[in-house]
Amino acid sequence: MIFTKHATLFLVSTFGIISVAADGGGIRALDKGGKKGKKSKGDRRGPNLVDRKAGKFVSQTINICEGEDPDADDIPCFENGVIDAVAGPQAGINVTEGYDSGEITVIDGGVVVEPITSTFLEAGLCPVNVHWHTGAEHTSAGEYDCTTRECGPTGKGTGRRVLSKYGLLDKKADGTHRGLSDDDGPDRQGFRCSHYDKNDPKFTKPYHFKFCSKEMTVGETYEVHWPHGSFGACNTPSQYQTPFYKGLFCNLGRAGLSFPEDVINGKISSQTVASNFALQGQVYTIVNDENYYYPDLFRGMITGVKDFGKDIAVYLGSSTGSDRDNTICSKYAPITWQMDRKCHLISASSFDKLCADMLSQTPTDMTADVAPKGARLLVDDSLSDSNVKTLNLN
Ligand SMILES: *[C@@H]1O[C@H](CO)[C@@H](O)[C@H](O)[C@H]1NC(C)=O
Repeated sequence: MIFTKHATLFLVSTFGIISVAADGGGIRALDKGGKKGKKSKGDRRGPNLVDRKAGKFVSQTINICEGEDPDADDIPCFENGVIDAVAGPQAGINVTEGYDSGEITVIDGGVVVEPITSTFLEAGLCPVNVHWHTGAEHTSAGEYDCTTRECGPTGKGTGRRVLSKYGLLDKKADGTHRGLSDDDGPDRQGFRCSHYDKNDPKFTKPYHFKFCSKEMTVGETYEVHWPHGSFGACNTPSQYQTPFYKGLFCNLGRAGLSFPEDVINGKISSQTVASNFALQGQVYTIVNDENYYYPDLFRGMITGVKDFGKDIAVYLGSSTGSDRDNTICSKYAPITWQMDRKCHLISASSFDKLCADMLSQTPTDMTADVAPKGARLLVDDSLSDSNVKTLNLN
């Protein structure tokens, strides 16, 4: 299927801002070990954790992105069997090497719309948020595709494999639907990696999270997302935002544009969307083992070590989340996705360090993002980009 959006090509002139995360990235973390006179059994902090308090590092208290969340409603994916023109290709898809939905090619002004194939930093985008989902929203064969109970610590399968053609899925079919905030069913869990081994203590020994939500579980698989944008408040204390839409659209109004109106009327082309709004994703199984500690998950996906970032699927998709499935689609498309195909082990303390960094943000309150979110149903072929590329950022 050829998916044509708009014929107008519109160039926005305010991009090109090189980004550095607004947190105290250079601050050396301290490990004080057990505090004097208070050596409780529960104090099992990993190394390199420091009790940070919000507001210590910056003086700016005004969040310049306040009120900039477009809060665009979801839309039905199909109208009379045809993809809604605003929906476009969705995320997360099957990122297995060789997967081809054979369905969607996004064309704009007669030209195929291309995702960003450099690093987002090189493309002038900065990270505006980090959050994660329980289980992978994407699937990658042999890496994160497990749905059986053996692959996770809860003794439960994830029931993710209920696929439908053309949005005919009965939501009750998999017993789980929609998100935490809607209170209309259990949160849907995504695919798991196959690393979990119930006989290996690093997958089963509990870790006492101090900064992340207590829902976080050793042995469980999480898909972490870093939304990036060139309309973000890059290089200011307002760079990171919760919800992330505020960060992505922070400077759009100041550039004289509005979303989704200017996408619908063609003032913002599909290529402009794909080149200026992007998501990075990496999938991890959490272990209680400091040999897998990584100090900075805040600024973006891990690249450059071991096999991190070596095999990345690049495609056009949308924002995700458990409110969306193959019937209800996100309007935030076609954005660039760079999704690491491998599942990596990472220490629980790496996540707790990340949550500490998030909670130390000023002026943004990121509390809502230190708990895992539900997962979207795997995107059906009919809604998947067919032009998946491969990138090595290692
Ligand atoms: C993903 O794609 C691969 C390659 O085409 C295929 O073997 C696998 O079954 C697909 N996974 C799912 C869950 O559809």
